[in-house]
Amino acid sequence: MKATVLINGSARADGNCQELIRLMMEHERMPLVHLYEYNIGHYDYEHLNQKDDFLPLMKDLITQYDQFLLLTPVYWYAMSGHLKVFLDRWTDLLTNEKEWGRKLRGKEMAVVTSSHGNHLASQFWLPFEYSARYLGMSFKGGLHTEPETINLPQLASFLKDIQS
Ligand SMILES: Cc1cc2nc3c(=O)[nH]c(=O)nc-3n(C[C@H](O)[C@H](O)[C@H](O)COP(=O)(O)O)c2cc1C
Repeated sequence: MKATVLINGSARADGNCQELIRLMMEHERMPLVHLYEYNIGHYDYEHLNQKDDFLPLMKDLITQYDQFLLLTPVYWYAMSGHLKVFLDRWTDLLTNEKEWGRKLRGKEMAVVTSSHGNHLASQFWLPFEYSARYLGMSFKGGLHTEPETINLPQLASFLKDIQS
């Protein structure tokens, strides 16, 4: 069994992504990280933010888990700001924390979104798929959901697919 961690990129604690998480947990208990609870600064070319929460969190995630399941609300047709800032900071692992970047190789990424409009094209997944590939990770796929129609069988089937 792969060790999967849920990483919630929503800007609120009790929103639609949290409802997704609640449903997923009915299928399978998984550890959970809420990005908005962490002090993670924007990517800085000077690396002046190395003392914020990013590196300790990321090192912990890399050490403990094989698979990162990213949850994001769709904000303006894209991933949330919290998630984008978090992923931008992975660049730190290609520069001054290279040994940690190498540890990402062989790990897996998957994404579940929540939005109100069923209007996203396949390009939505491109930043995840290409970033994963660049880092030597596998992109296991993405699932768009809408709060009105989300259901446990749909989520359970996706979880089964990404964990196979
Ligand atoms: C800033 C902002 C931008 C949004 N942009 C979109 C959008 O482009 N497309 C869409 O379908 N829904 C959009 N929504 C709606 C959210 O994606 C939707 O309500 C989602 O379920 C919110 O999840 P949350 O409660 O975990 O944040 C937007 C909501 C906000 C707050």
